[in-house]
Amino acid sequence: RTLDDAPALAGKTALVRVDFNVPMEDGKVTEDTRLRVALPTINKLRDAGARVVLMAHFDRPKGKVVPSMSLQPVVDDLEHLLGAPVRFAADCVGDEAKTMIADVPLGGVVLLENVRFHAGEEANDPAFAAQLAELGDVYVNDAFSAAHRAHASTEGLAHLLPAYAGESMRRELDALDAALGKPQKPVMGIVGGAKVSTKLDLLKNLVGKLDRLAIGGGMANTFLFAQGIDIGGSLAERDMADTAREILAEARARGCEILLPVDFVVATEVKPGAASRPVVAGQPLSADDKILDAGPASVARLVDALTASKTLIWNGPLGVFEVPPFDTATVAVAHHAAALAKAGVLTAVGGGGDTVAALHHAGVADDMTFVSTAGGAFLEWMEGKPLPGVEALRV
Ligand code: 3PG
Repeated sequence: RTLDDAPALAGKTALVRVDFNVPMEDGKVTEDTRLRVALPTINKLRDAGARVVLMAHFDRPKGKVVPSMSLQPVVDDLEHLLGAPVRFAADCVGDEAKTMIADVPLGGVVLLENVRFHAGEEANDPAFAAQLAELGDVYVNDAFSAAHRAHASTEGLAHLLPAYAGESMRRELDALDAALGKPQKPVMGIVGGAKVSTKLDLLKNLVGKLDRLAIGGGMANTFLFAQGIDIGGSLAERDMADTAREILAEARARGCEILLPVDFVVATEVKPGAASRPVVAGQPLSADDKILDAGPASVARLVDALTASKTLIWNGPLGVFEVPPFDTATVAVAHHAAALAKAGVLTAVGGGGDTVAALHHAGVADDMTFVSTAGGAFLEWMEGKPLPGVEALRV
């Protein structure tokens, strides 16, 4: 159920779960994407004549009031982006919040303090959810990136008030459906990042769904090692070699082509501008050598594979993209994916932590079909797990 399914909202108070868990330094928001993605829902509700009460968590205060984890610093940024005043309630439940909400005019906005200051939030305590429910008439969940948590404000409330998906939630779900739910085939995945162990469930789920899967980053080293290829002193989980071989066998059995790097960029130290050299997979490496990026032949293979695909789902960089020149493969592949997406021939969806940073670094985040704001929720969705916050919104 989306906001378009909601009956007349004029005069109602909408309790909106947003994800304002934004990067902050010294009490200042340093990256405001998650504030921006909440604006369409907030504005839609304001335009409909509703009062908007925003609920969010920040960091992990574990049920205690931790002043450094207050949401207060978000208020200025939000007011600026909205072009409207935002009142701040110093506790997310109780009489003070109730009075403040009753006092704001229709179309007004209140931000509640960090819901995780109460232990009932993460415990999904029905009594705490009921206290939140007292503050509004309808519940809107616009926090896809927190939907993997079955907490009071992300799940419990959906059972207590008429519940709807907000605009950002709807956009995320539509994009994810286009990428893995009902994708146009062939579907290609790119999974990178440091460790196989953190992405085991994800890899197992994907090999059953994709036509081809490119594995990059540190985790590719584990797969190469498992195939007897010399990886020198590279980062790898050597004890996961059996698991890597099992995943490769499963992929073969399910008809998913696995693309591992066929050449690399190797250096002995990970620092900007470090001397590096190209190496073809299978050549001997020394114990000091570290594979830090995919090489040009690997990039060319990925570019060809992308050109032959209709859908891309991307999680994780292909090399140590934070340290140039080891960003070369990630940037080149990102540019190609974004160009195909812009030309309308590839549905290109990326998400999860580092991926967003890598796409921004490549300067192509805006050209992708969709870039998710989610970290953990994106990964759990790629693992094929139901997300409690989304399930609770189903009719
Ligand atoms: C995120 O930043 O991924 C979400 O806000 C969820 O935060 P959490 O991992 O603390 O639940």
